[in-house]
Amino acid sequence: MLKRKIFVTREIPDSGLKLLKQKGYEVKISLFNRAIKKRELIKELKKGYDGLLCLLTDKIDIKVLEAGMPRLKVIANYAVGFDNVDVKSANMKKILVCNTPADVVNESVAEHVIALMFALAKRVVESDNFTRDGRYKGWQPDLFIGQNLMNKTLGIIGLGRIGKATARRAVGMDMKVVYADLNQNKSFEQQYKAKYCSQNELLKVSDFVSLNVPLLASTRHLISTSQLKKMKKTAFLINTSRGSVVDELALLKALIKGDIAGAGLDVFECEPLIDCNPRDHYELRKMNNVIMTPHTASATIEAREAMSIVAANNIIAGLSGRRPVNLIKLK
Ligand code: DGY
Repeated sequence: MLKRKIFVTREIPDSGLKLLKQKGYEVKISLFNRAIKKRELIKELKKGYDGLLCLLTDKIDIKVLEAGMPRLKVIANYAVGFDNVDVKSANMKKILVCNTPADVVNESVAEHVIALMFALAKRVVESDNFTRDGRYKGWQPDLFIGQNLMNKTLGIIGLGRIGKATARRAVGMDMKVVYADLNQNKSFEQQYKAKYCSQNELLKVSDFVSLNVPLLASTRHLISTSQLKKMKKTAFLINTSRGSVVDELALLKALIKGDIAGAGLDVFECEPLIDCNPRDHYELRKMNNVIMTPHTASATIEAREAMSIVAANNIIAGLSGRRPVNLIKLK
């Protein structure tokens, strides 16, 4: 039988790659030490691969899928999000598409949401810059006054695995939790004394709003001007999902006008650009009440290892005629 061939678009932790090799597959890792370009990926896939292990920076569109045909059978996206893959077209071509929602990845993102909440509430970044700059001249009662998280309300939009993991932590910190989702989850409500509400209600009552939805046509610009206007002026928005879930220009305007208190952003609409309109005078990155991280919510040693193993197992299952555990099925 022809040896199975897998193409990996960028170096990732070895744990999963070892599994693929142990299975007898030939594994080729892209030699470019950067995100692969579309034309490079197309050229490579035309050589014939059974499996593709790709990253969220790779746009897997119809042209890429066609380059992999007829041999390509499984695509394992090294991410929980899968908005970079045209899943519908892949499925039509009988190519399986999988993601990597390992528990430790969800927990890592939830930890990042909490880190951003703390950093905003306690003004950690501003205070660090101030102290580092040598501007600390003595204790003052009103220096960098922040807020407590205790007794505050966290609103979670999207009660999937990451949303739940975030809620669990918030409740452990004596916060109240409200959530909005397509489905109500009564056992979750009982366990965490959480309240199910509409998105509008959530925006009105929350001190922190965390976005935990995948980027789909229905969630693009889920948060725009009218939603931001519903939020408390003292509230913070946290986005660790995908940049385009938020209308970034609307967010910028809301921050300038003081419609909300601040934002914690791990993802950006025009990533890796921080502002889609960099010439805009009020760029997000110039705002003290915005804390930014470079799409690193799941960047822990543990999570990246797990993602490698999960992606490999998805490929192995798909090529062995089994249903991969993390097969993406569009509703
Ligand atoms: C994911 O898993 O979707 C993250 O955004 C990538 O780290």
